[in-house]
Amino acid sequence: MLTLTTCALSSVLLLGTDQALRFDPSKFAQTQATLGETVLKFRAAEGIVYVAQPVDAKYQTLYIYVPEAYFNGQTVNGYTSKTAPIFLPNSIGGYMPGAAQRPDSGRGGTLLKALARGYVVVAPGARGRTLTDANGKFTGKAPAAIVDLKATVRYVRFNRGFIPGNTDRIVSNGTSAGGAMSALLGATGNSKDYAPFLKALGAADAADDIWAVSAYCPITNLDNADIAYEWLLNGVNESKRFGPGGPGGFPPGGGPGGPPPGMIRQGGGNPFGQPNSSSGKMNDVQIANSAELKAAFPSYVNNLKLKSPDGKLLTLDKDGNGSFKDYVKSLLLQSAQKAFAKGADLSKTSWATLDGGKPVDIDWDGFVKDVGRMKQTSAFDSPALTTGENNLFGNETIDNRHFTAFGMAKNTVAGASLAEPQQVKMLNPMNYIGTKGAKVARYWRIRHGAIDRDTSVAIPAILALKLQKHQLDVDLAFPWNTPHSGDYDLDELFDWIDAHAK
Ligand code: DHB
Repeated sequence: MLTLTTCALSSVLLLGTDQALRFDPSKFAQTQATLGETVLKFRAAEGIVYVAQPVDAKYQTLYIYVPEAYFNGQTVNGYTSKTAPIFLPNSIGGYMPGAAQRPDSGRGGTLLKALARGYVVVAPGARGRTLTDANGKFTGKAPAAIVDLKATVRYVRFNRGFIPGNTDRIVSNGTSAGGAMSALLGATGNSKDYAPFLKALGAADAADDIWAVSAYCPITNLDNADIAYEWLLNGVNESKRFGPGGPGGFPPGGGPGGPPPGMIRQGGGNPFGQPNSSSGKMNDVQIANSAELKAAFPSYVNNLKLKSPDGKLLTLDKDGNGSFKDYVKSLLLQSAQKAFAKGADLSKTSWATLDGGKPVDIDWDGFVKDVGRMKQTSAFDSPALTTGENNLFGNETIDNRHFTAFGMAKNTVAGASLAEPQQVKMLNPMNYIGTKGAKVARYWRIRHGAIDRDTSVAIPAILALKLQKHQLDVDLAFPWNTPHSGDYDLDELFDWIDAHAK
């Protein structure tokens, strides 16, 4: 009797979710936009709340855009309505809330270019660290954003056949915190860790793994980001708010006063009110902390047992030198050589060693000094709880928390607390790659500008190497003279998608 009742009840609940989350194709409206000289015709379905019990409907909303051709049995770029990849560009920046993007928004150029390539575009909104409900309870702390992106993937897969596109070809794209979330989405497919959160939201009952990840300058591996930053920058005791690219300081996410489409925050500058990113000299405590953090990095890297693509073990000695550093340096040299081949003049870059104009070596110390530090120690888990990341690891009632043992040990704020290990675990893709509990995306494209100062260049390198260790297909590069930004090489990104999807 009891079993029967439970059974009947759960099927009623299931039916409820089914109906609430079933996409209605009659929602599609014909529209068009111009991209350069071309008029793009497509259909739009906007304002779709993608969970049955939203916490914040404004952000837990997605928009769908589909090339018009797919409604007329035609093809675009060789794709049909059944085979077209589904492009999922998130608009998260600074771990702030990110509403779904429209083709006519600041960064909408990305969406239009994706449509022109024949992709189905699903633009997800996601909660972020500053959101509160009517009672002042925090509703967007970690892992809210990744849970929302997973709910989006589930919605799309649940509605296979109702929404055009191939649910086995979902490609996530994001920049900075959005790049980190893109990577996390790719690393944690179907992991049980997130299931209770998805259930509480009434997310669609479907798998949430994806096929490919595009991550621009991912601010990821947050619990190891401080040691990686000081490994790179120890000895640089002054921060510069603006990098070699000069002042920029665009707010994230486009919109009024925002960056030009496709370029966020060119030239650096931190719009998130992080005192760690101001210009100025570090004090003695910060300098001492920098040395301690740097000293902790080699054992972290060595324990990962990473190998270069040619099979060489990548390690560091206690001073932070060794084959891992040489490998990162070789990627910077590759970047210089690629830029040179395309006609760039490298003579102004003091740390590129040239022979007849051609780059032959990288002066590591020169690179570190010239690019410099944007954030003072500790860059991510600040003893004073002042960073965006401290804010990300709060909970429903506490706004800012530490998320590393080191940050907690050096804490300077009365009543400060440490985030639960599980919350920290769920934000780091490194914890899921190569584990049985997660289906990891097969294809990865990771870009980190050669003059990006928001996180250490070691971070994207470690992520890529760990993926390669587990036989995943990774395309990693540090584009020349490129600051903290994204979507700057969409033609190449889309060529990469096409090369694997076709
Ligand atoms: C972003 C930049 C940062 O420096 C950071 O610490 C977190 C996020 C961003 O641009 O999204």
